Amino acid sequence: MSFSAAWLELREPYDRRARNPAVLDAVAAALAGRPSVTIVDLACGTGSTFRALRPRIKAWQSWRLVDNDLSLLARAPQSSPPDVSVATIPIDLNRDLEAALDGPADLITTSALLDLVSDEWLQRLVVEAAVRRLPVHAGLSYDGRVEMNPADADDPKIIAAINAHQRTDKGFGPALGPQAAQQAIERFERVGYAVVQGASDWVFAPQDREIQVEILSGWAAAARDTGNMPLPDVIGWLTRRRDLVAAGRSSIRVGHIDFFARPIDTR
Ligand SMILES: C[S@@+](CC[C@H](N)C(=O)[O-])C[C@H]1O[C@@H](n2cnc3c(N)ncnc32)[C@H](O)[C@@H]1O
Repeated sequence: MSFSAAWLELREPYDRRARNPAVLDAVAAALAGRPSVTIVDLACGTGSTFRALRPRIKAWQSWRLVDNDLSLLARAPQSSPPDVSVATIPIDLNRDLEAALDGPADLITTSALLDLVSDEWLQRLVVEAAVRRLPVHAGLSYDGRVEMNPADADDPKIIAAINAHQRTDKGFGPALGPQAAQQAIERFERVGYAVVQGASDWVFAPQDREIQVEILSGWAAAARDTGNMPLPDVIGWLTRRRDLVAAGRSSIRVGHIDFFARPIDTR
C-alpha cells in the first residue's frame, strides 16, 4: 500500500497534536541519562516520528529511518542538527523486518503502521524486539472509533465499512486494523513488557476543511471497495458530509492509541 507525501504532510500537524503526552514522556524517561541513543523508526514515511520525538530526547541521537517507499525516504531528513545523525534505509519490512533491526539500537519507534500489519507480522515484531530487549514506541494506531458531528443516518454503515476495509491486506497479510494496538499491548505484556498507553485521537474542528474532505473521500472509497453499501448511498453520504464541511459545520474525531512498551527489568 502506498501513501503520498502530500497526505503525510497534511496529517503531520494533526498527528503531532494528537500524540499522547504521557506516552511521549515515558519514552523520554526511559532514555534519560544516556549520553547517546540509537533509534530505529519503522515505516518512517517522510520522518514525522523523528520530528516529533527528537526534541524530547536529551541525548546525542543516531536515527535509522526505514521505509520501502523511496520517494518518501527522499523527503525524510537527510542532514540534521549537530546532536543527531540520520540514515535513511530502504527496506521492505514485510520481507526484512529482522534486517531493519540488526545493528545497535536502544529504541524501536513507529507511527501509523501497526494497524496496517497482520497478527503474524506483529508477532515477528514482538519476538525480534524481545530477543534484543528493546523498548517499543508505537504511535497513532487507529482503534475503530469515529465520531462525526452533526450525525448522519448513514454514518454507522460507513464506519462499519471503514473498519471492515481496515482489516484487508495492506501488504503484510490480513491487517489487524482497529485491533492492532490492543493486540500489540497484550502480546508485549505476555512476554514481560510493561506498557504505558493512552489515546491519541485526531480532532478536526470545522475550520480543518482540507483534512476533513480528504478523510471523508478516503472513507467513501473504502466503503465503495467493500461493496457492503449501495453506491448511491455512499455518494449521498459523501455529498451531505462535504456540504457540511464547506458550510463550516463539520467536526470529526478519529480514535487512535499510542503506547510505549519496555522490558520490565530496564528503566
Ligand atoms: C501511514 S504511513 C506512516 C508514515 C510515518 N510513520 C508517519 O507517521 O507519517 C505508513 C508508512 O508505512 C510504509 N510502509 C508500508 N508498507 C511497508 C513495507 N512493506 N515496508 C516498509 N515500509 C512500509 C509506507 O511507505 C508509509 O511510509
